[in-house]
Amino acid sequence: TLKALAPRDMAGKQVLVTLGPTREPWDAVRFWSNPSSGTMGACVAVAAYLRGADVTVVAGPTGLTFPCDMAVVSVTTARQMYEACTDLWPSMDMACLTAAVADYRPVPFGESKFKKSTSAGAGITVEFETNPDILKSLGESKRDGQKLIGFAAETDNIREEAARKLAAKNLDLIAANNIGKAGSGFGVATNEMFVLDAKGRKEQWPQLPKTEVAWRLWDHLLLD
Ligand code: CTP
Ligand code: CA
Repeated sequence: TLKALAPRDMAGKQVLVTLGPTREPWDAVRFWSNPSSGTMGACVAVAAYLRGADVTVVAGPTGLTFPCDMAVVSVTTARQMYEACTDLWPSMDMACLTAAVADYRPVPFGESKFKKSTSAGAGITVEFETNPDILKSLGESKRDGQKLIGFAAETDNIREEAARKLAAKNLDLIAANNIGKAGSGFGVATNEMFVLDAKGRKEQWPQLPKTEVAWRLWDHLLLD
């Protein structure tokens, strides 16, 4: 099998990967979310798995399936993803958070369905509360020896934002992409990454299959 052929350079490592979108309910039939497919995270998880790691995936709603000996925790909301990751992180050696977590959740309308007659054709205003930043929280509680990879989805100032997030979230490595560009970001099989690590090493990668991006990210993290 592929697993037998892959290098074993992550053997015995406990690895956490988040992936997919989160979904934030508003009323009985509506939610706030984003177009993340979970593909990048699935590639990151499978790469670590093939290299011998014990992988735990915390997955938002994607419909993806994983190797049967990979641990999968399925969640819906950002707060559920935060709870799962907070519980898992102390027992992990590495984490790579690829999930497109909703930064905000709508203040719930209630258990029932909002009827358009309620607004009498006038439109509506929905209020939002801020969700926890999972990556920042794991960075703040990072122990000696633990390694943390984050992603950054940007439309502007990619390099500056990558550097800011690397420092603000206490990361070892950040992979930033231009989600406004064809061949990078949501719902495509490729990504074009700017990669920056805590030692100041920077690399601009060409457009690559997400499988290859995943493999290179672990290569880069294991360099030290
Ligand atoms: N992330 C997270 N929890 C959140 C928001 C983001 O764990 N509530 C993680 C993502 O999985 C990603 C990284 O943080 O690894 C960066 O996400 P991004 O949306 O690019 O950055 P934000 O810090 O949310 O800032 P902004 O959306 O304003 O650019
Ligand atoms: Ca965000």
